[in-house]
Formats: sequence, C-alpha cells, structure tokens
Amino acid sequence: ISADQPYRTAYHFQPVQNWMNDPCGPVIYKGIYHLFYQYNPIGNGSPDGPRVWGHSTSFDMVNWSPQPLILEPQMVSNMNGSYSGSITIIQGYIPAILFTGITPQNEQVQDLAFPKDISDPYLKEWVLVPENPVMSPTLENNINASSFRDPTTAWRLSDGNWRVLIGSKIDRLGLALLFRSMDFINWVQADEPLYSYDQTGMWECPDFFPVYINGFPIGVDTSAIGPTVKHVLKVSLDDTKRDIYAIGTYDTTKDAYIPDAGFLNDSSLRYDYGKYYASKTFYDNLKMQRILLSWINESSTVEDDIKKGWSGIHAIPRRVWLDKSRKQLIQWPIAEIERLRVNPVILPTQVIKGGSTIEIPRITAAQADVEISFRVRDMPIIERFDASWTNPQLLCSQKGPTVSGGLGPFGLLTLASTGLEEYTAVFFRIFKAYDTNKFIVLMCSDQSRSSLNPTPDKTTYGTFVNVDPIREGLSLRVLIDHSIVESFANKGKNVITARVYPTLAIYDKTRLYAFNYGVNNVDITWLTAWSMRKANIA
Ligand code: FRU
Repeated sequence: ISADQPYRTAYHFQPVQNWMNDPCGPVIYKGIYHLFYQYNPIGNGSPDGPRVWGHSTSFDMVNWSPQPLILEPQMVSNMNGSYSGSITIIQGYIPAILFTGITPQNEQVQDLAFPKDISDPYLKEWVLVPENPVMSPTLENNINASSFRDPTTAWRLSDGNWRVLIGSKIDRLGLALLFRSMDFINWVQADEPLYSYDQTGMWECPDFFPVYINGFPIGVDTSAIGPTVKHVLKVSLDDTKRDIYAIGTYDTTKDAYIPDAGFLNDSSLRYDYGKYYASKTFYDNLKMQRILLSWINESSTVEDDIKKGWSGIHAIPRRVWLDKSRKQLIQWPIAEIERLRVNPVILPTQVIKGGSTIEIPRITAAQADVEISFRVRDMPIIERFDASWTNPQLLCSQKGPTVSGGLGPFGLLTLASTGLEEYTAVFFRIFKAYDTNKFIVLMCSDQSRSSLNPTPDKTTYGTFVNVDPIREGLSLRVLIDHSIVESFANKGKNVITARVYPTLAIYDKTRLYAFNYGVNNVDITWLTAWSMRKANIA
C-alpha cells in the first residue's frame, strides 16, 4: 500500500482501507447517526471478496467513529455475504435491519436482524433471527435467485401491514417487487410490483419516500401519506450505473406508483449527472430533514486502487426536498459541513472579462468549499441552440472548457496545477433556443484535463439546468476534496460529481481559478471560498 496518499479525502466518508460500496441502513437512533456500508474486508481496494457491513457512528454526519463490522456470516442464509439493505424502526423504538443475504449456493434472500441490546445507542452488535430467510425467490413468482436484492426501509399503512420493496428483474423487465407483513417476519409478495418497466434491466437499491408538496426543505417520515405529500421512487440502473428518480403519486388502494412524467427514458431525472450510485435516503427526525447518501466509485483502475489500498468514498450527505415546481427534487449539502469552513476568501463583485481567469488566493485549493454567482445579460452574440443537441453530456464533451462561445464557458477551474497542465473545469454555457427567445443553460463537469495520468476514466459529464439565467442568475457551489469535485448548480437544482486524480495539482500545489473563456464579459456577483478543515473519519 502506497504511503503517499494524495487521493484520500479530508471530509468525505471513507474507511481506512479496502473496498467500500453502497451506504446501508442509515438511521438516527437515540440521537446518534448510524452509517453502515458494503465492505470487502480483504483485498486492499479490490472488489473481489465477501461483503459484510462496515459501521460508523456520528453526532453530525461529518465526523465519524468506527464501530465493529456487523452481519458477518452467522447462518446459512448469509453464509456467503451480506449485501445492501435498510433499517426500519418498528414498534416505535426497535431498529430492524432487512438486508440481502447470500447463501452457500450464492442465492439472494432477504434476512432480518435485530440489535442484541437496544439500550446500546451505538448498536454495536446485531443478531440474525432464526426464521431467516424471511423472503426468498421462488419458482412460482419467476424470480431468479441472482436478481433479488436490496430491501428498502419499510413503511406502514393504516391496514397495519408493513411494506417493503426489493429490487429485481425478469429478463429485461426491471421490477420494484412489493412484499407485505404484519409482524415483520412473515412476508408475502404482492400480486403486482409497486412499479416495473421493460427493457431497463436489473433495478438495484430501490428507494421510496414521501416529500412535502409545499416546497419547504422539511422532510417527512417514510410512512407518511395523504394530500400534503408526493412520492419519490428511485432505482439504481445496473446497466448504466445511474440513480434515476421520479416524482409521482402513491396509490395506496392499489399499492401502485404513478409517476407524474416521463420516467425510465432518456430524460429521466437523476440525483447527480456525474458519478453517483446505489444511493439511499433516511428521515432524520431530530432535524426534520430527509438525508440522501451515496456511494461514489473510483474512476481509477483496479490496479491503482489496490496500490493505494482502498476504493470508494461516500458523497457529502445531502438534504433533499421537493422543488416549488413539484417537478424535481432540490439537494443541498447538510448544514453541518459548513462547520469545517475556515479562512473565507471573499472577492469583491467584479467583471470577469471574456477570455480571462482570476485566481482565488490564500485557500487550500485541494480541500475547499466554493460559492460563486454570476449575472449575465441578454446579448445578440449568444449562440443559437441546435435542435439536434439532445444529449447534454455529449454536448459538454464536444464543447469543452477551451471552446469559446458567446456566453460561456464560465465557471471554476478546480484542482488546477499552476501552469494549468491539469484542472477539472466546472462551468456553464448559455444558448438561445432555436426558435424562441428562451435561454438554454448547459452545466458541465469536464475531467478530460484532470490528470496527466492516462489511465483513469475521464468522462465528461453534463446536464441542462432548468433556469432563466437572466432573471434568476446562475450559481455554483463546489465541494473540492483531493480526488472528488461535487458541483451544485443554482442552489441544488442540478448536481454533478466527479472523481479525479491529479498528479501535479496535489496538496499545497493545487490552485483554484474562476474563468470565462466566452466572448462576452460576465459579472461575478458573489464569490466566497473557504478552506476546509479535516473531519475526523476513521
Ligand atoms: C449495488 C450492489 C447491490 C448489492 C451490493 C453488493 O452497488 O450491487 O445491488 O446489494 O452492491 O455489494
């Protein structure tokens, strides 16, 4: 394992060593936040090996203390590993884990576990119930034993039945299977899935939760129903490694989900248009917020991961709520992360001329939190949008940060080396619609110049931001942490996360710039950049 670790993060969650993937069973219990995660305890960052659940606890979701591993092989139904799952608080005070166990025949089944001692707020030890497995794939339901996993947090309706979703597929038909139980031990599969969609392949890590329709950033318990909420269904598409979601209605009489608009097509909403997979939410009743957690995979090669001795980090927990438009979610880093901010550098309101950069001085640019807002004016030189540009990611890779346009590209050059041999560019580009006077805003995260090392994946990411740039302005908040750049556009409307591995722009050799390589000038109306302290994560 290499001693030099320029890619370890300072304030993103990661274990000391080895492979980590999905967040599992997040919950707040007796005032303590619990994060469990898919962990391969052998192999120095290689995915090859059995899965157990790692466990850490926290008072703020920023600083974490490690706890003993749980769900190690205990009985036949988890002998070959413990895959992802969720926690439900039952009877008002008992946390229950439902997770996917792997049998000696490598079949996927659902298992139930309870804390050994519910008076221990750290929930250090868990015991599997003797009735396991509590759900199994059967011939009669046509479910294949290799496509039956990742139980959600359960919710309960007034008929007294708990309900849970299991990710699955039949051939290419993606499925959110529904099971019901009165006692949490005897589960019966519903005749129909909550939702399904053909030609989408395996649905991993489903998540299903209500959000208030009033547009306030307040969360609500998973079992809430009624006219004040809409429901979000999220699935992780194994084929494309995307977490997509819909806003819709939960018909509780039919136990069926009805998305409001196009779901599971090219225009599916995504939590994040970069690297973001196997995410999961939970309701934090202490702060009345719904929190979204996710695995951020490496973009480096497995050989590089094994050399550095670890693989996988988690995104900064995000608060999620329904936008006033009721058409999408808003996501914002939890407020507690701001406690790590030190030494703010505030730049005065100024013009950033077309074709120029402005260095943001006096900050630890490898470990920073940056907020920047722009004002743009309607000008005749704005490019017309071509109706064939339907794929924002492709458009971002065709029009990179050095391709000058009328308005844009402008934004930030993060994790930049002094001579700009390396940088990760996060930026906007504005177009006028082909046939109207409406504006089209493109947001890009371009990794193509992020590292002189040729081996990591450097895919460019992009998304359209649904905003009127003249009336509302444009803004970015970017969380930079050595090998991750998490970028939030317009207060959480769209998010793009990237993993990058600079070779020159490491530690104190890293720089940060605002840039505008478009023809027109743009106003920077607000720029504050903070150096970030290191969180206690072990
Ligand atoms: C998603 C996933 C889950 C599974 C787990 C295994 O990344 O494949 O479907 O439970 O990881 O580690």
